[in-house]
Amino acid sequence: KKNLVVAIDGYSSCGKSTLAKALAKKLAFIYVDSGAMYRAVTLFFLRNNVDITDDAKVIDALQHIELNFHSRDYESHITLNGEEVSDEIRLMPVSENVSEVSAHKIVRHEMVKQQQRMGKSKNIVMDGRDIGTTVFPDAPIKLFMTADPKIRAERRFKELQSKGNDETTLEEVFENLAHRDYADTTRKESPLVRADDAIILDNTNLTPQEQLDFALQRVEPLL
Ligand code: C5P
Repeated sequence: KKNLVVAIDGYSSCGKSTLAKALAKKLAFIYVDSGAMYRAVTLFFLRNNVDITDDAKVIDALQHIELNFHSRDYESHITLNGEEVSDEIRLMPVSENVSEVSAHKIVRHEMVKQQQRMGKSKNIVMDGRDIGTTVFPDAPIKLFMTADPKIRAERRFKELQSKGNDETTLEEVFENLAHRDYADTTRKESPLVRADDAIILDNTNLTPQEQLDFALQRVEPLL
């Protein structure tokens, strides 16, 4: 039987990864956080002052980046050239630069290639912005997630605080989300857009369990 890909797209911080992880755990699928890949590339570019207006430099940098996922109890961990960077990629320096890096055609091309390889023969749940439109346009199940921007900012703010980051204010988080949503939906290379066949899931007033049930109802008939 062919492997199954569940594609989850949507705006920044609207609970994609929470749902994707819970779903993967329940189904015993592999969870892939595509945003973490763009974030890790951004971290590498920042550390090495890669000039993204110079295509040759971008191509060269990408050749020196090796990303790997280590799934521990369905918490997604990513390594950049062997170094665990899962926490660092969530901090503001990366959040403030990732939209620009992820809009780069050459970067996207390379990430999409790696993502498609991961979904070739395995059962996976992948979340991101272009999973249902570009990475796996034939995925049999696609969810498009959205939620009230204020609620999203509060959720992300709490998450940052729980990780010991007390420098970033709620307003800064809100501004960053608004900026990333705008950049993601208006960029030229695979902008964030709902695939025609994606099911909308607005989770403003839904608990994680209710979201999981919503998704399971749609995935289980395909198993
Ligand atoms: O999902 P997360 O918010 O961590 O993603 C960080 C950024 O990476 C997004 O704001 C977006 O610019 C980019 N991204 C993307 N395509 C994906 C996943 C993330 O462009 N599939």
